[in-house]
Amino acid sequence: MTGTSQGAGPDAGPMGRARHQPPVGAADPIDFFDRISAGYGSRYQGQDRFHRYYFQERMNKAVDGLDLADCNVLDIGSGTGDLYDQLITRFPSMQFLATDVSAGMLAHSNVPQAQQYIGPVYEHNLGPVRFHAIFMLGVTTYMGRDELEKNLDFIARHLHPDGRFIATFTNRSSLDSWMRSLAQHFVKPDPAGRNVLSSGLQIHKYTYPAIRAMLEPKFRIMRWDALNHTIFPFNRLLPGLSIRAARQLGRTQGVPGWLRFLSSDLMVHATLHP
Ligand SMILES: C[S@@+](CC[C@H](N)C(=O)[O-])C[C@H]1O[C@@H](n2cnc3c(N)ncnc32)[C@H](O)[C@@H]1O
Repeated sequence: MTGTSQGAGPDAGPMGRARHQPPVGAADPIDFFDRISAGYGSRYQGQDRFHRYYFQERMNKAVDGLDLADCNVLDIGSGTGDLYDQLITRFPSMQFLATDVSAGMLAHSNVPQAQQYIGPVYEHNLGPVRFHAIFMLGVTTYMGRDELEKNLDFIARHLHPDGRFIATFTNRSSLDSWMRSLAQHFVKPDPAGRNVLSSGLQIHKYTYPAIRAMLEPKFRIMRWDALNHTIFPFNRLLPGLSIRAARQLGRTQGVPGWLRFLSSDLMVHATLHP
């Protein structure tokens, strides 16, 4: 790592920084993720079959084909550091930095404290470092458009010329998204709860063309993956059947329109323009 590794010191936390306010009436993602941080990591290996399927598919597709030995890696919205846990055993020589607006999520990670940055990534001075891989997994859903653009500008400035940017987006044109929007009308709001659907968080969703329009001016998209081909609420009512069918669909190459319709999230693997 050539950049300065200033950890979560007194100036690195949300205290002392302008905290980004959610829109009036919406819940604050920092409060939400601080609140669920203690149990979040168990979603990758825990008892809940749907969570295990969802998080493992995302992780596997994100790191597929990458050799990160001796590489600089940045994880934006790192959460409880499950990507770090996956990668450090395979690539012990990588230099890993984790950023997140939720101090609680980072506090529950195994990422060494000197490699943690609390707050929006673009508010930190990381020096001239260029990263060989920058991940943003499950994060754009909780960012307003301005916040996302600031992150994309930062990533374009800090990605190594041969580096990979890997990000996921909630798919606005999916059956799952429509079913969740419908269900929201029947769910009792629970602003102090642990469930995204009832939390009052503002959810940001994008269509496939909208993601392309947003990314292509800055990045060259090399590969797409469709994620999570289960449909709410059947994935909760019939998890075994839903997950078996989803695993079959998950083997499809590329992201044809019919598969996008059946996929709750889209993953982009991108690089800088030559
Ligand atoms: C669904 S979790 C995903 C965590 C992790 N990336 C993973 O794949 O398990 C979303 C994370 O994004 C973080 N987050 C939300 N808004 C953010 C922002 N504007 N900048 C950085 N992190 C953010 C949350 O605090 C939370 O830890």
